[in-house]
Amino acid sequence: MADSWSSSGWDVHLDWDPETGRQGLADALRKAIREGRLTPGTAVPSTRALAKDLGIARGTVTRVYSDLTVEGFLRTTQGAPTRVAANEAPALPDQQRTAPWVPDVRWDLFPGRPDLSSFPRAAWVSATRRVMQDAPASVFDYSDTRGSLVLRDALSRYLARSRGVQADPARIVVTGGFGQSLFLLARVLYSRGVRELAFEDPSLPEFRQGAAGAGMSTVGVPVDERGVRVSEIDSPALVVTPAHQYPLGVTLAPERRTELVRWATKTGGLVIEDDYDGEFRFDRQPIGALQALAPERVVYAGTASKTLAPAMRIGWLVLPRALVAPMRAELHSLGWRPPTLDHLVLAEMLNSGAYDRHVRQRRLAYRRRRDRVLAALPAGITPVGISAGLHLLLRFPPGFRSEREVVAQALRASIAVDPLGRYWISPGVHPQGIVLGYATPAEHAFGPAVEALTNLLR
Ligand SMILES: Cc1ncc(COP(=O)(O)O)c(C=O)c1O
Repeated sequence: MADSWSSSGWDVHLDWDPETGRQGLADALRKAIREGRLTPGTAVPSTRALAKDLGIARGTVTRVYSDLTVEGFLRTTQGAPTRVAANEAPALPDQQRTAPWVPDVRWDLFPGRPDLSSFPRAAWVSATRRVMQDAPASVFDYSDTRGSLVLRDALSRYLARSRGVQADPARIVVTGGFGQSLFLLARVLYSRGVRELAFEDPSLPEFRQGAAGAGMSTVGVPVDERGVRVSEIDSPALVVTPAHQYPLGVTLAPERRTELVRWATKTGGLVIEDDYDGEFRFDRQPIGALQALAPERVVYAGTASKTLAPAMRIGWLVLPRALVAPMRAELHSLGWRPPTLDHLVLAEMLNSGAYDRHVRQRRLAYRRRRDRVLAALPAGITPVGISAGLHLLLRFPPGFRSEREVVAQALRASIAVDPLGRYWISPGVHPQGIVLGYATPAEHAFGPAVEALTNLLR
């Protein structure tokens, strides 16, 4: 019989067949402890409660507990509940240390993540408490596929003031991050007859793979020091990182911005603006979002992955009006319902100013880190890109080791960095370099990580 004990406060599945009697019950408990379903320190039900739950004599349970205590699985203390003993802790699988594609190293300078130890835990907890105190029961219901209106309202104000986005809440859709946003957009466009999506060359391959998974052919448009070469776009839609090109780190020059908007308006093309780190410009006010120039031709896409943490899995789209209904239909067809409680907590942080405070504090911290990396770089290594974001491209001088060699040496020195080579779309010879994420190490590990890196590049 598979049973669960309800009287203990813990709902634990116990594989016990009454036919197997006392021995079978002891085995079922040992198994639950070994498999980690009953963790060290957990109070097991009283003998009376378990006997009642299982419909057996209390004496049987007492004897089983006594056997397991002798064996070291349980711990009894006079006057306190019997608990699972600590020394019988089953070997739990290792807590996954980091993003699965990042090598498990000592110095994590792989780009793409913020300092995870800086997550604003206290602000998140206070916001959660406020939400739980004030929210009506209706928030626990299924909600609009676009996400909580409270969050869309908060985002609408935040995006307007911080990035100049024209963001009516009705055209905002909260997603599970940019990766999902792009996949959804690709599906929506595909259903409307679009078969090809252009990406900047170079750009992150994972997003191109996502679009391909939605049925799209993907092509590259070259990027130079003034951003994407708009005159070379020959596709109905383009994904672009205008504020801070990923990975080259350049910004889209003013005349290219105008040219891109003109291209979209004239051809009916769609621009997908990936504003993944738009909050982190260090040397000046960030340039406003492209979306404001043509809200019906530009999709604005943002994410909480860099400002808060990738584990949030929260991103947002500000859609042209014509795409709102198709996107809702797409979300509906996928059975998507948003996690409203997280939305409400994020909205509370946006409305209270806690989010802005955190972003300002992080901006300062990442700016200092960037400056420290730049100051430490050996002669000949060229940093590329504007003063912004969480990453830096380091270009090697002619005759330097190949990026492949550098990445292999880095791994031997327990440093993770990303080779520029994997970002190119067009075949052929490309400049050699590595993409460095300076935000990820915790504060205490940052100095030693930079030292390890500079030793490597000398
Ligand atoms: C270019 C770029 N855009 C967007 C993102 C954010 O993706 P997501 O919101 O899915 O975490 C990243 C994260 O690494 C990125 O590098």
